Amino acid sequence: MPRTDNDAGIRLQGALQVIEIAPPVLLAPLAGITDLPFRRVVAGFGAGLVVSEMVASQEMVQAKPSMRARARAELGLGEARTAVQLAGRDAHWMAEAARMVEANGAQVIDINMGCPAKKVVGGLSGSALMRDPDHALRLIEAVVGAVSVPVTLKTRLGWDDDCLNAAHLAHRAAGAGVQMVTIHGRTRCQFYKGRADWAAIAAVVRACPVPVVANGDIVGPDSARQALAQSGAAGVMVGRGAQGRPWRLAQIAAELWGARAPEVPQGGALVTLVGAHYEAMLSFYGRDLGVKVARKHLGWYIDAARGAPLLRREVLTASDPAQVLRLLPEALSPAPQMEHAA
Ligand SMILES: Cc1cc2nc3c(=O)[nH]c(=O)nc-3n(C[C@H](O)[C@H](O)[C@H](O)COP(=O)(O)O)c2cc1C
Repeated sequence: MPRTDNDAGIRLQGALQVIEIAPPVLLAPLAGITDLPFRRVVAGFGAGLVVSEMVASQEMVQAKPSMRARARAELGLGEARTAVQLAGRDAHWMAEAARMVEANGAQVIDINMGCPAKKVVGGLSGSALMRDPDHALRLIEAVVGAVSVPVTLKTRLGWDDDCLNAAHLAHRAAGAGVQMVTIHGRTRCQFYKGRADWAAIAAVVRACPVPVVANGDIVGPDSARQALAQSGAAGVMVGRGAQGRPWRLAQIAAELWGARAPEVPQGGALVTLVGAHYEAMLSFYGRDLGVKVARKHLGWYIDAARGAPLLRREVLTASDPAQVLRLLPEALSPAPQMEHAA
């Protein structure tokens, strides 16, 4: 059933407190993209929950104190409405990492069982855990048992078309105390190819007694509405659709849940927003790394604004931040000759 304006958000019950995800529109974790500066921009427009990039549990626990301090800063543990996502294959290290991030202020802990990357799957974590549900359950139980904050799970439809076991896994995870399950409507073997299958998420919704969030290829109110109608999920999670359009989640929340509509920045307001995001990245990463990390975001903003390709190139190759900031007003202006320039 599609959700209406009157539907409540998602409630995550922790041992000590309840976290309300309202509206139930979540920012997906995208490693290398949804860093703290970007999450703050998205949260500024409005999002029910943002999720940190995944952090490798054992590596974090065993890191030197200075590295751990850096990881803590990157995770934004003190930020409101943020879940910290942990990845790993070993119940002991997952539990230790969960304790550590909870002690540092995490309000929700999400377990990654969806990452398809060979590096991660090779270590039998991420989506590889779907092939071994018993082991996956031991890991979930260890995390739930280690912390009092709510624990959530993010996974895919299954490993491949012959192993579509998300409903089974989600049912067992809920039995172990997981409070919410997000399903990316693809299998591991699909990686990011083809279309996300929102209708297939319906089987998980039926099997799972806790709220299910639909994810994959949701880029705006129309696709969010379709994903909810086909899956019966309680909420949506948006990743790539927010690239260059950090207001997208708030637009979905406004159209589907009656939240206040965001003011979509244009002209000078867009330049101000992108400039502030750029400067936040420079101060977060330091100038040299920040200039490089910022380029993908600047490219998405310019694409979303239909800026001129030549100016786009100039912005993305400039290494002086002052020059980037000087170029932004023109680069973020729609280029009338777009069709001919490409
Ligand atoms: C570059 C990139 C990085 C990602 N990193 C993570 C991650 O750290 N943890 C995770 O659970 N999923 C990760 N994902 C998967 C996304 O969270 C999401 O499930 C997927 O992109 C589908 O949603 P979308 O179509 O809205 O982007 C990543 C996806 C991409 C493209």
